[in-house]
Amino acid sequence: MFEISRPQNMPRVLIRELNAGHAEKIRMHFKNLGSEDRLLRFGMYTSDEMLDKYVNTINFHRDAIFGVFDNNLNLIGCAHLGYSASNLVINSTAEFGVSVSAEGRGKGVGSALFKRAAIHARNTNIKVLYMHYLSRNKVMMHIAKKAGMSIEFSFGEADAYLTLLPSTNNSIVAEAVQAQVADIDYAFKKNIRHSKSFLLNAFSFASTK
Ligand SMILES: CC(C)(COP(=O)(O)OP(=O)(O)OC[C@H]1O[C@@H](n2cnc3c(N)ncnc32)[C@H](O)[C@@H]1OP(=O)(O)O)[C@@H](O)C(=O)NCCC(=O)NCCS
Repeated sequence: MFEISRPQNMPRVLIRELNAGHAEKIRMHFKNLGSEDRLLRFGMYTSDEMLDKYVNTINFHRDAIFGVFDNNLNLIGCAHLGYSASNLVINSTAEFGVSVSAEGRGKGVGSALFKRAAIHARNTNIKVLYMHYLSRNKVMMHIAKKAGMSIEFSFGEADAYLTLLPSTNNSIVAEAVQAQVADIDYAFKKNIRHSKSFLLNAFSFASTK
């Protein structure tokens, strides 16, 4: 039996950039989060209606949305890199928010989404990556400290800032390669899913004969 090994420097978690066509998957991902996770993600208790509104107003042209899919093409991790309209002109800070479904946690998905958002921000001339989270959020605190972010605390909330280096040819190529590998992986999973359902249909048809 031969094994396909992962090329060196290729991340273990494959991340796709999402577009408006993924809105329903994003909605489903958020709605599957429990109330405590919604509080940690959005900083307030968030109803299904508020999530609908949030998803309906995502600006896929201005912002960057990243996703991680499992083998069944369910969205198990989603990050929103928000660019404010004024940031596009001058100064440039982008805000990062992330969530990973309960089943996908502890496997490096959240950290991988953070790294991908940081490289994307860098490659789009953003100078500072910003995160706002509750200071009791131990995982986000760990991610922020590990990345060397400077952190300010106030009234149970934390603001973390990461100054980004300017983009280089290497950072641009690295992101492009990651994006391509993730697209190929997605297409592969989609084909496997189609083949499985084709075979299941063929078998159930044969067994009724
Ligand atoms: C925060 C969240 C996205 C992390 O996702 P995840 O995929 O489980 O994260 P990872 O597996 O990449 O783990 C991140 C790191 O935190 C560490 N960690 C996990 N639990 C921890 C804890 N209780 N205390 C400290 N560190 C912890 C992990 O060991 C890992 O560290 P490492 O990279 O040094 O090994 C996920 O828990 C989540 O969706 N929470 C609810 C929403 C939320 O809090 N969003 C953030 C608001 S911006």
